[in-house]
Amino acid sequence: MTISSTPSGVSVAPRHMHFNVDRDLETLWHGGDVFRTAFFNALSLQFPDGEQQFINAVRLYRDKVDDSKLSKEIRGFIGQEALHSREHKQYNDALKARGYDIDAIDQRFRKHMAWVGKLPPSRQLAGTCGAEHYTAVLANAILEHPEWMAGATPEMSRLWRWHAIEETEHKSVAFDVYQHCVGDEKLRRIVFLFVSWNFFKFTFLNTCALLKADGKLWSLTTWASGMNFLWGRPGVIRKCLPGFLGYFKRGFHPWQHDNRDLIDKNLGDLELKQ
Ligand SMILES: [Fe+2]
Ligand SMILES: [Fe+2]
Repeated sequence: MTISSTPSGVSVAPRHMHFNVDRDLETLWHGGDVFRTAFFNALSLQFPDGEQQFINAVRLYRDKVDDSKLSKEIRGFIGQEALHSREHKQYNDALKARGYDIDAIDQRFRKHMAWVGKLPPSRQLAGTCGAEHYTAVLANAILEHPEWMAGATPEMSRLWRWHAIEETEHKSVAFDVYQHCVGDEKLRRIVFLFVSWNFFKFTFLNTCALLKADGKLWSLTTWASGMNFLWGRPGVIRKCLPGFLGYFKRGFHPWQHDNRDLIDKNLGDLELKQ
């Protein structure tokens, strides 16, 4: 029985990449811009614990999957997320070494993740699908608009593009497991509301915490340029919003947006094509 919907030409397998970003993270690596740097760093702070929870949620159901293709993709998904977690842990440790109070930020998010980890399995998996949708839409944006990373140091740009490629490759894995093992459309959409609230809440709080440490929390020019980046031009969140909301559609599926061409192009740019 075929459950996997990952299209042909896409393989879900970890690449054993390692990035030396310690030096970059001592600087405002995103084009010298305080807000952009803080925003991407704020996203990174959610990855190690968030991606561990994605792995945990999918593991709760892996034995119920009787499709060899999807089972292989689950192994690939776990491998990819484990390596993302590892690289972002090192990323976040470098931020800590720079003097940010990462422990306090981690503690707040870990408390939330501990709560998520006690939810019924179906809700955990629905939460993973919702969070994976956020990463998939943001990943698509990074791959489609390299100009949004203009000014980023080459190693940081490479790290974010590698992560974006693999998020795109595995964007339907948790979703296919959910469709097969749970399949509750209403639950999927209700849980997405909670995931959305938490995604924006933690990204905002983390960005504020980093800006505060930079002495820029109350800087109007920093916020004006940040709001312009997110909502004006290029308008990262504004342009991603239709993609985020698409998840509410009845019958939504991640590969309804076929962006295999972006995987291919970016693998070529990073010289990762096999
Ligand atoms: Fe990831
Ligand atoms: Fe992912």
